[in-house]
Amino acid sequence: MNLIVALPGEPLPKEYFDVRFEVLRKPLGSPRGSELLNDDDKAIHAYISLTPALSEGEGAEKIIAVGRIALIAGDGSVKDPVGSNCPAFEPLSSSSSDLRPAVQIRQMGTLPEFQGKGFAAKILFALEETAKQHWNARTGWLQARLNAIPFYEKCGWTSYGEEYDVNKVGAHSSMWKKLRERNTQ
Ligand SMILES: CC(C)(COP(=O)(O)OP(=O)(O)OC[C@H]1O[C@@H](n2cnc3c(N)ncnc32)[C@H](O)[C@@H]1OP(=O)(O)O)[C@@H](O)C(=O)NCCC(=O)NCCS
Repeated sequence: MNLIVALPGEPLPKEYFDVRFEVLRKPLGSPRGSELLNDDDKAIHAYISLTPALSEGEGAEKIIAVGRIALIAGDGSVKDPVGSNCPAFEPLSSSSSDLRPAVQIRQMGTLPEFQGKGFAAKILFALEETAKQHWNARTGWLQARLNAIPFYEKCGWTSYGEEYDVNKVGAHSSMWKKLRERNTQ
């Protein structure tokens, strides 16, 4: 198993986006291309690949799980390529800087046959740690599909506020996690 972290602007293999499409977009009936986000080149990405077994012959490594984290400049509200509106993270709407630098997790996905084996947790932890090192990130934010809430809770994230519907995707809950105390580096 290889865990790869790509800093902003570093190249990503096509298979990274294939996994995103298969797990997060195809099930919604969204077209190819909708898995690409406008700010992917500004995000930190992490993915896990497996070396194929000898019995399967030689070949490229198989990517099985992906995720990304990015700095939140405003309040986090965004319209993404499938036409869904992600609402603001209310605590970030105030002028207080106590929560910043703030970062957002998006596009976490593990191929169905590899789920429940701890791969996404490894990716999430690597994204959190890299965001702390690279951006000095203090808090993390995300909008979780309801099915994914137990996964994020196991990884130390907390839901807050009311559930809401994200157009074309379904019910979501906002979650957050403190990544770093105020006076630590
Ligand atoms: C959510 C998702 C990324 C989790 O990936 P995964 O690789 O299966 O997660 P992990 O195996 O690393 O899970 C870590 C822990 O959370 C638990 N967990 C994961 N998904 C869970 C679920 N739906 N319900 C309950 N527990 C869950 C695991 O059992 C594991 O627990 P453990 O540490 O006690 O063994 C994956 O289910 C997925 O791709 N879902 C479809 C796409 C999606 O909804 N993405 C999130 C969008 S917000």
